Amino acid sequence: MKRWQNVNGIYQIYPRSFKDTNSDGVGDLAGITEKLDYINGKPDSLGINAIWLSPFYPSPMADFGYDITDYCGVNPLFGTLDDFSRLIDEAHARDIKVMIDYVPNHTSDEHAWFEESKSSRENKKRDWYVWRDPKPDGTPPNNWLSVFGGSAWEFDPASGQYYLHSFLTKQPDLNWSNPEVREAMCDVLHFWLKIGVDGIRADAVRWISKDPDLRDNPLNPNYEEGKGMDPYLSQIQTFSRYGVHLFAHLRQISDVIESYPDRIILFEDYPDASLDLKSQYSEFYAVNPHVAAPFNFEGFKVEYGAGPFRKFIDRFQADIGVESRPFYCFGNHDKPRLVSRVGKEQAKLLGLLQLTLPGTPVIYYGDEIGMKNGIISPDKVHDPFEKQTPGLGLGRDPERTPMQWSAEPFAGFSRVEPWLPIASDFTTENAVEELHDPTSFLYMYRALLSLRDMHVLRFGTYAPWDGSDEFVYGYFREDTESQILILLNMSAEPTMRDVGIDGQIMYSTHAVDNAMIGNSVALQAYHGVVIRNIR
Ligand code: GLC
Repeated sequence: MKRWQNVNGIYQIYPRSFKDTNSDGVGDLAGITEKLDYINGKPDSLGINAIWLSPFYPSPMADFGYDITDYCGVNPLFGTLDDFSRLIDEAHARDIKVMIDYVPNHTSDEHAWFEESKSSRENKKRDWYVWRDPKPDGTPPNNWLSVFGGSAWEFDPASGQYYLHSFLTKQPDLNWSNPEVREAMCDVLHFWLKIGVDGIRADAVRWISKDPDLRDNPLNPNYEEGKGMDPYLSQIQTFSRYGVHLFAHLRQISDVIESYPDRIILFEDYPDASLDLKSQYSEFYAVNPHVAAPFNFEGFKVEYGAGPFRKFIDRFQADIGVESRPFYCFGNHDKPRLVSRVGKEQAKLLGLLQLTLPGTPVIYYGDEIGMKNGIISPDKVHDPFEKQTPGLGLGRDPERTPMQWSAEPFAGFSRVEPWLPIASDFTTENAVEELHDPTSFLYMYRALLSLRDMHVLRFGTYAPWDGSDEFVYGYFREDTESQILILLNMSAEPTMRDVGIDGQIMYSTHAVDNAMIGNSVALQAYHGVVIRNIR
């Protein structure tokens, strides 16, 4: 992909939780605009030059904006279309590209399209959604499950048919087999691209094509009832997604993206672990190598440790080859916070890893200051996933707590009680406190994003370092001009390593003098270094 050459990373903003300017306890577009200096363009900025905004469209908020009633509008909770245009202009003035969320698989059940579709079997939009007769005994047409729990079918007594919802009942699936739907959804893209949006993050794309015969999914033999597993895993999703037309549909929307200069599209896709990973990634990369790519989310699942991470990165880099650009993502609004998953020191090392790998890192707001999962008491639960499958740890509120700007009341996020509680450590873990602390997360993210201006870190090759073992993971980044070695001591044991090069330490997670003595590097527990070969 030749587009977005100047982008050093993408910063994901969850608009509800970034900055509240109108004192309703919920973040807004004006708040994002107000904080653009934090992101780029000033000496103290984070120094990242693309943002991705989770949905800000009109929505009854059953799934916090992923249930949309108007694809081409702005929810008054977040502002107006003018606020959005202002945000774009101000972002562009700071050299920040703006990516927005695009939710092709489903609308809200309150979308005018669905209301029409539901109104009668004869309505001309009936076929815009997936309607089917009950089985003779009145049960749903097949055994498919909703990702968020329960059947994927909801009965409509008025018309006597079921409609399909791969997510919530309030998120009916669009029927992408219908060319009118595809055209309408391409129009949505034109609308935002014309306004000046630079990129699209396409939500849950795997579901937009299903088995045309709607066959039952096979049961998963490895699923154990009552063992706290996600009930969705009780089936293998053979027929409910990843259908034969998936890549044709993605090609159609990618063509729209390609018709505008320097725009890109990223597909949200979690590969199916029961199928071959390499071929799944290559299919997504092959959709349109000029403008489209999938995220890589494997960092969410890989067990923390030098061995497992080395294996994961080596494999993925080799699988996709040098032509495809990786978009490694270690945190988002759907998964527990990095610090809470692996621990503080460990999370910092993974941050260092992400920022020194090839491609374009995607960073979730707050991860750059080491935010933890918030504690959500049962009466504060908002997320429907937690409400529908309680107690399994699937709820997503903990990773959506407000951004910790400062030690002021409500962490400087709002002047009133926010929609979700602020995490308790905000008086020390916040953007103001961390700015000048060389041992902080923020300091590291700023330093490494600035190092990523070097050609070698952005475009250089990746090659494993031979000295890697189960404690230390090392790799080279190299171009014709320079060679960089990154060493991550992912263990709690200090260690000394001979690296065989004359190096200069460009960044170290630990403030130590003399980490490099001759060709040897002294690594503290959970210590990471970036070394430039000065041959
Ligand atoms: C994606 C989103 C998630 C949402 C779901 C349904 O996975 O990231 O937040 O709930 O799709 O739209």
